[in-house]
Amino acid sequence: MSESSTPKSTMSTGAPAPSDRSSLTIGANGPIVLHDVHFLEQMAHFNREKVPERQPHAKGSGAFGVLEITEDVSAYTKAALFQPGAMTEMLARFSTVAGEQGSPDTWRDVRGFSLKFYTSEGNYDLVGNNTPVFFVRDPMKFPHFIRSQKRLADSGLRDNHMQWDFWTNNPETAHQVTYLMGVRGLPRTWRHMNGYGSHTYMWVNAAGEKFWVKYHFHTRQGMAFFDNAEASAMSGADADFHRRDLFEAIARGEHPSWKLSVQVMPYTQAKAYRFNPFDLTKTWSHRDYPLIPVGTMTLNRNPDNFFAQIEQAAFSPGNTVPGIGLSPDKMLLGRAFAYNDAQRNRIGTNFHQLPVNQPKVAVNTYQFDGQMTYAHSGSAPTYAPNSAGRPWADETGPITDGWEADGDMVRSAYTLHTDDDDFTQPGILVREVFDDAQRAALVDQVAGSLLGGVRQPVLERAFDYWKAIDAEVGQLIEQKVRSGSGGKPAEGMGEG
Ligand code: HEM
Repeated sequence: MSESSTPKSTMSTGAPAPSDRSSLTIGANGPIVLHDVHFLEQMAHFNREKVPERQPHAKGSGAFGVLEITEDVSAYTKAALFQPGAMTEMLARFSTVAGEQGSPDTWRDVRGFSLKFYTSEGNYDLVGNNTPVFFVRDPMKFPHFIRSQKRLADSGLRDNHMQWDFWTNNPETAHQVTYLMGVRGLPRTWRHMNGYGSHTYMWVNAAGEKFWVKYHFHTRQGMAFFDNAEASAMSGADADFHRRDLFEAIARGEHPSWKLSVQVMPYTQAKAYRFNPFDLTKTWSHRDYPLIPVGTMTLNRNPDNFFAQIEQAAFSPGNTVPGIGLSPDKMLLGRAFAYNDAQRNRIGTNFHQLPVNQPKVAVNTYQFDGQMTYAHSGSAPTYAPNSAGRPWADETGPITDGWEADGDMVRSAYTLHTDDDDFTQPGILVREVFDDAQRAALVDQVAGSLLGGVRQPVLERAFDYWKAIDAEVGQLIEQKVRSGSGGKPAEGMGEG
């Protein structure tokens, strides 16, 4: 191609750019002039080309795909995306929780598992993790929990002491901490981990009957994990290992997939179930509520622009569609506010209008103008009700996906169900789900982490915490710590 036919770059106005190599100066060695608009625009835009990273879950990536419904669960939900044979375009994003944008993918952490389904009834998001439970059960505690995982205010270092201080002061963390210290804290790749909706959600069928559900996405690649040494080595060798693995697998045509199943609890059974079914630190026994297969999720298309499609993607557990509702889980209710608010701050007021977040259905919202708006309703009335025929919503009376609530306004823990306590379920996880090798690795991991700078009285509390989970495991951890022989914890567990 000759020099004269090479396409030239333009300014953002579309007019030809004068030069992408030389600024405009007075003589070859002279000062730059203020009217070099192209230069000034380049510099000013560069200063603004990053958006703030997500507060938690900053490091991640994802891909597009499809959810295919292979079974008939219409008895439980009327949601279009879950009807037999439905195929719904979707986006998934996987992430670590505590690490910042550039942090290694293989630091020990819970992994985020965010899904956005572009359904024929609007966007439906499920924003879960690779574990079925969470650290706390009241959203008031969430910012405190996240800060305890991040960095010390003075040194900016991560800190084991701070993490264990928070965990041992909040014993409801025991179940999730057991998952985190076990193999699930180090998934080998995102393709080799399960995902969970974690919370209890509501499903409503066409007849208006309500059910409580929990979502399970089981990897069809099989679960696989790193051990501490492998994960540490990888965090040095390739900080973006998980991001790279997913991108390259899809580029090779190896499309990872997950089998979606749900546990379904009839609406009226919630009150009498032996565990509070809305407590996010608990699972439902599979014997009580077996898995019901629903379909398959497959990721088959890489982003073609990371910033536009992954960084600006906005997921929220508050984004539901008809036939799916929230539940009395206080964490879920707190989250229903947090995400859209974070995204208004992180991406901008009209983040819903960006292509990756746009629903595939027509939108008729009375939200109006604001920064960066470009979709608008022309001259249609900006208010409702109106006499010009612009439709508006008018639901009144009991809502289809609601539940009954009564009582005085209180600040309180949940009322306890018969088997509710903080340590039974993590104890079962350690004794019945972990095998001998996994139990030994757990003891090593916890002892190593406690040896990494945890001081009294937190250390003593940590021994009691683990003895309450499992007496033998607790004693082994204490012995190892007292003899100073804990294993080296994986990077990311706050050796700071
Ligand atoms: C009250 C509790 C919680 C609050 C206030 C909260 C808040 C947030 C916020 C503000 C973000 C960043 C959103 C953004 O900038 O786009 C975020 C991201 C995320 N959270 Fe939470 N969170 C809570 C609990 C949970 C729980 C229980 C889970 C999983 C079961 C979870 C999973 C995630 C995931 C996966 C992301 C990353 C989303 C993405 O991929 O873009 N969070 N959270």
